Amino acid sequence: MLSLRVIEKDLLAEHIGNGNVVADFTMGNGNDTLWLAQRVGTYGRVYAFDIQEDALKNTEKLLAEKGCIEQCTLIHDSHHRLAEYIKEPIDAGIFNLGFLPGGDKRVTTLRETTLPAIEAAINAVKPGGCLLIAIYPGHEEGCIEGQLICEMLAKRDQRELSAYRFNVLNAPTSPYFVFIEFNPKYKKEDKQ
Ligand SMILES: C[S@@+](CC[C@H](N)C(=O)[O-])C[C@H]1O[C@@H](n2cnc3c(N)ncnc32)[C@H](O)[C@@H]1O
Repeated sequence: MLSLRVIEKDLLAEHIGNGNVVADFTMGNGNDTLWLAQRVGTYGRVYAFDIQEDALKNTEKLLAEKGCIEQCTLIHDSHHRLAEYIKEPIDAGIFNLGFLPGGDKRVTTLRETTLPAIEAAINAVKPGGCLLIAIYPGHEEGCIEGQLICEMLAKRDQRELSAYRFNVLNAPTSPYFVFIEFNPKYKKEDKQ
């Protein structure tokens, strides 16, 4: 059986290497932050965001245990304000939407901030880079959030980026993901 989680990491791994600058836009317990930190190494940088203080505490502990804290900047703020914190182009970014498993289900990502955050992340990624967005349509907000993200991306100019959706056809409420690849030859000046 295919695992979407494995496919996600395989796609990201093709774009992320030693010394890269990347972002985890939904830090949670820090599993994705750690994976990114291990890939970029000490010469790279991982910017990680979350609105929950516990997420920062748990992630800091995990990164320290694994010896990866040095290359990470943990930010206690909403991801839609990313331009306030990230002042350099990034190679890749991950959004793992929804709420923290085992945490407070009321603290979930919301379309009002997720959509501007994705828009800001698109502006931050270098040509040739990528973004991955994991979506959980099993709860109401996740379902609507996913639909709006897909509608927004379907309108983008393919000269700039290509957006792909990976889902299990016969499990319509199971998690799916969107992968965005940025054209390495695209120049922002080409934008009309
Ligand atoms: C599914 S969890 C992320 C799991 C995480 N990537 C991991 O590896 O453990 C979603 C996280 O998004 C966070 N979140 C919700 N709204 C946010 C926002 N506006 N900005 C940043 N993080 C947000 C939640 O607090 C939660 O920790």
